[in-house]
Amino acid sequence: MSSFRSRPVETLVHGIPATDGGGVQLLRVLGQNLQRRLDPFLMLDEFRSDDPNDYGAGFPDHPHRGFETVTYMLAGRMRHQDNHGNAGLLTAGGVQWMTAGRGLVHSEMPEQEDGLMHGFQLWLNLPSASKMIEPWYRDIPEAEIPVVRLDSGVSIRVVAGSAEGVRGAMTRERTEPLYLDVHLPAGSRYDAVVDAAFNAFVYVYAGVITLGEPARAVGERQMALLGNAAGTDGVSLQAETGARALVIAGRPLREPIAQYGPFVMNSTEELDQAISDYRAGLF
Ligand code: CO
Repeated sequence: MSSFRSRPVETLVHGIPATDGGGVQLLRVLGQNLQRRLDPFLMLDEFRSDDPNDYGAGFPDHPHRGFETVTYMLAGRMRHQDNHGNAGLLTAGGVQWMTAGRGLVHSEMPEQEDGLMHGFQLWLNLPSASKMIEPWYRDIPEAEIPVVRLDSGVSIRVVAGSAEGVRGAMTRERTEPLYLDVHLPAGSRYDAVVDAAFNAFVYVYAGVITLGEPARAVGERQMALLGNAAGTDGVSLQAETGARALVIAGRPLREPIAQYGPFVMNSTEELDQAISDYRAGLF
């Protein structure tokens, strides 16, 4: 027995099938009903299909203001392009970290006509003081995402935050997001350290993982929302057969959230301004 104290699973969440962009079929794992509980995270979608009818239409030109999007590809290729002159190709294992800030218009289009497209898009809120900063983005290829390999066979891709003393590809000051992709071989256990003040969840995308204390089995394509129990060290993950999961956590902003589609601000007045600025071509 280790002395590691794990958070409990507070709720198991089943994603809701949704259609977005030009008609992309996806699973909305974290929706608007959980935005306050999982502050600073606003949304998590999983797109996963080998049927081009489910993804081929992509996400044609659309605006964003007031937050960041983090797209993590496991399989497939997605080309993005924005109205500030940025363009790039997101390939398997890579991440695109985009800060919409005061606003941009971009497209995210699959660059494949068949085969599996699998990945995630997470929306991370910006503090009110940063919502109107200049838009910015970074493409992080797979080779630039640190991987921690433990003797147990567990491997951890550190997209953001840090794990086992290894700093991830991205850090963010105010919300300090932790974004880990944990691969557990059969019979292994991993204790992920998570600040007790953070809101946190685990999304199992392959296999079954027994999570938390008291232990609870979480199946494929289920999200475990973790309780914020005082004095805990993080969350324990155990797999009887091979399994994979995203472990995501962040420091809550505790600011009002006002959302209208792709705009996330602090008040309805700011949303009205976002809509009129977008219509006036100011993005
Ligand atoms: Co977008």
